[in-house]
Amino acid sequence: AGLSFANPLGLAAGLDKDGELVRYWPCIGFGFIELGTVTAHAQPGNPKPRLFRFPERQALVNRMGFNNHGSEALARRLAALREGGWESPVPLGANIGKSKVTPLEEAVADYVTSTERLRDLCDYLVVNVSSPNTPGLRSLQDPEHLQGIVAGVVNAAKGVPVFVKLAPDLGDEGLIEAIRVAESEGAKGIIATNTTIERHGLPDVGAGGTSGKPLLPRALEVVSLVARESSLPVIGVGGVAGPEDARAMLDAGASAVQVYSALVFQGPGLVRRIRSGLAS
Ligand code: FNR
Repeated sequence: AGLSFANPLGLAAGLDKDGELVRYWPCIGFGFIELGTVTAHAQPGNPKPRLFRFPERQALVNRMGFNNHGSEALARRLAALREGGWESPVPLGANIGKSKVTPLEEAVADYVTSTERLRDLCDYLVVNVSSPNTPGLRSLQDPEHLQGIVAGVVNAAKGVPVFVKLAPDLGDEGLIEAIRVAESEGAKGIIATNTTIERHGLPDVGAGGTSGKPLLPRALEVVSLVARESSLPVIGVGGVAGPEDARAMLDAGASAVQVYSALVFQGPGLVRRIRSGLAS
């Protein structure tokens, strides 16, 4: 995708939606960081409780619903940091999604608005069409919707590379269709995967997406499929909790790896542990 990462381990989207800790993440060793998901309109997300921990399974279930201050606020924050002389020492991604108030038919304009605000302030953009927590969002992975969104974002991105983040719950055929659209509309990479609607035997806490350990096998399958079916680079994410998991992602064909849930259970030392394990 024309990007050069300081090391192959990145922060996954959703932990620092508004970029509040953007200066901190590189300090604990991340080779790249992905902010967002941000939406064109600021929104509060779903009512609490909306995040559930299952430490014995190293898993989370969340239905946050893109609680974020909006793409304009993120753009302002990044612009102010830049004006203050700060420059990210590692590539910075901005993950964008559809606002809850925006009807699905107006999704393209919503994604394009966020793209225009953020394109000059980040190194790559991510089209998120795979969160289970915005009603109807994942239907935007269907070719007819995805085509318009990727085309619109790629055009508005003015050369900033665009990635498409996919759900693990798509079947192989749906994945291949989505990859073909991403390729034909000029996306530069795939991120696989978002959280799953499968519960893997966890206690019932209602709607949401599962992440962490139980997601790893399916995330590896999807990464392998993307690597087999496409020449687009793929960032592997889902259930990586140590160097062996990160190695498995790279062996499955990922060019880089991201983590979220394991950081919640293991703390910031996870980043150095994975990196030194990979190096040895
Ligand atoms: C996420 N994830 C996510 N992804 C995304 O593209 N935009 C988002 O806003 C969020 N928000 C979010 C919140 C919470 C609480 C979690 C646990 C996850 C998904 C995340 O980036 C990643 O794809 C999955 O969590 C799988 O990776 P892990 O957590 O198993 O390492």
